[in-house]
Amino acid sequence: MIRARTRGQYRPRTPKAPHAQGTARPRHRTIRTSAALDSRPVPDPICIVGGTGALGFGLALRLGRAGVPIVIGSRDATRAEEAAARAARQLPEASFDGLQNADAVQAAETVILSVPFRNQSETLTNLKGALREGQLVIDATVPLAAAVSGKATRTLAVWQGSAAQQAEEMAPDGVRVVSAFHTVSAALLTDLEHELDEDVLVCGDRREDKAKVTALVDQIPGLRCVDCGPLEMARIVEQLTALIISINVRNKARTGIKITGLNR
Ligand SMILES: NC(=O)c1ccc[n+]([C@@H]2O[C@H](COP(=O)([O-])OP(=O)(O)OC[C@H]3O[C@@H](n4cnc5c(N)ncnc54)[C@H](OP(=O)(O)O)[C@@H]3O)[C@@H](O)[C@H]2O)c1
Repeated sequence: MIRARTRGQYRPRTPKAPHAQGTARPRHRTIRTSAALDSRPVPDPICIVGGTGALGFGLALRLGRAGVPIVIGSRDATRAEEAAARAARQLPEASFDGLQNADAVQAAETVILSVPFRNQSETLTNLKGALREGQLVIDATVPLAAAVSGKATRTLAVWQGSAAQQAEEMAPDGVRVVSAFHTVSAALLTDLEHELDEDVLVCGDRREDKAKVTALVDQIPGLRCVDCGPLEMARIVEQLTALIISINVRNKARTGIKITGLNR
């Protein structure tokens, strides 16, 4: 969704932000270097919980470069600010905020969850009071065995079927979950010189949610969304990360997924 805001005028939409409720204003620093104002509408901000990490930071860079205002979330406000500053140094025209996770998720309607599997449930528990009805969570979590000191080429069984389904079970009522980005390399996202050319496999129970994710991913040149069906299909897609890691190791490469035969 594109809203009529102009560059340089971005203010996070924070109807339930702590400072809007009369409590202490969250400690954060906005890195907003898009001083050169132009009249193009600015997309809605996206929050990335775990945006200090490999995948989250890569997505922040790519989406930020495309003009999407990014709110980087972290357990630690200083770490979030540092990541936002690091991103802004690379992309002076983009808009990056750094906030503690609970404040970060209140600054956006769409939240990308990008944390290790062993921390996914803890992170969602901590965010229960911050996530609100109507928000969309894009879960990128892969239940790699590496999360519990196992092999990165193996996955763990998740009772709910997949990490994404676990996220859906844990998310507050009215917060929808889709899964995406499992097969995209953090290293390639972060290398802004690299021209991406691959698919993003998206699973979710509602077409509108997947359309929203597709619109977001479409902002990143070289990435294309493929609707893989309902959220339960995430149990298969999440396994593909382990497969990709195994292929990468054998071929000393960074591979991705491309589905052929689609009428794009
Ligand atoms: N790396 C990839 O190429 C890739 C590709 C596809 C999918 N994925 C999946 O995406 C997710 C993130 O991957 P990543 O490589 O970006 O992970 P990561 O760099 O290891 O961690 C991401 C962020 O998670 C937070 N985190 C780390 N330990 C935590 C803990 N104990 N409790 C709560 N939060 C913690 C950290 O943020 P703060 O400390 O700032 O809170 C960290 O920056 C994983 O589930 C991974 O399997 C990764």
